[in-house]
Amino acid sequence: MPATSSWFSRRLLALAQRLNGSAVFESQTLGAMLWGIWSRILQWVAMSFLPIPSGVRVALQRARGVRIGKNVFLGPGCWIDNARPDLVEIEDDCSLAGRVTVLTHASPPAPLREILGPDSRSFKKVTIKRGAWVTVNCTILPGVTIGENAIIAAGSVVNHDIPANVVAAGVPARLGGRHEPVVRPTQHSTGDR
Ligand SMILES: CC(C)(COP(=O)(O)OP(=O)(O)OC[C@H]1O[C@@H](n2cnc3c(N)ncnc32)[C@H](O)[C@@H]1OP(=O)(O)O)[C@@H](O)C(=O)NCCC(=O)NCCS
Repeated sequence: MPATSSWFSRRLLALAQRLNGSAVFESQTLGAMLWGIWSRILQWVAMSFLPIPSGVRVALQRARGVRIGKNVFLGPGCWIDNARPDLVEIEDDCSLAGRVTVLTHASPPAPLREILGPDSRSFKKVTIKRGAWVTVNCTILPGVTIGENAIIAAGSVVNHDIPANVVAAGVPARLGGRHEPVVRPTQHSTGDR
């Protein structure tokens, strides 16, 4: 490869590394980093507070690799992990209200990692089961499964699995009441809630 071309590649790689905030987690190839940057642009549009339909937010998150079922609502400001969006699964009929944060990775800074050990950098799946309602400003931490039809109250931080048909609230989210399982003969329509 000519010297100028390798100089150009190195500069491009360095720029991509800077733009791709989480490059450290991902493969260091230029392609992976460009994908990371593109994924962040899609996320930025999907999070918009402009009046765009939920279906567009869903389509953009799917394009980033998030697995999303049918009739899912995503509110404005929903942030789905940048490092591994593909580890998030949102089943049919779920609703994630505005400013919900879903995380699949943890990566302490390097000096702390030396103290805590290599396992302190981790990636874990998040599953939001069918019909769950994650209300405004909640944070879902890596490794959590939220059960079918569960309700997560506003502002909660969920750091453990939540069973089906319960209300959970607080920081960290604690179980509240139960409600009867919903029988769904037909699915409700998509649209802004
Ligand atoms: C979860 C929610 C639906 C429950 O509503 P509700 O059934 O009317 O419940 P209540 O307000 O009667 O509260 C029941 C208990 O849960 C507690 N609680 C309710 N929301 C809470 C929250 N966000 N954090 C902590 N505790 C909460 C109440 O303090 C109450 O506790 P108490 O019995 O000890 O007094 C509601 O609190 C909520 O979070 N709504 C979010 C709405 C939203 O995000 N809308 C926008 C998108 S669609």
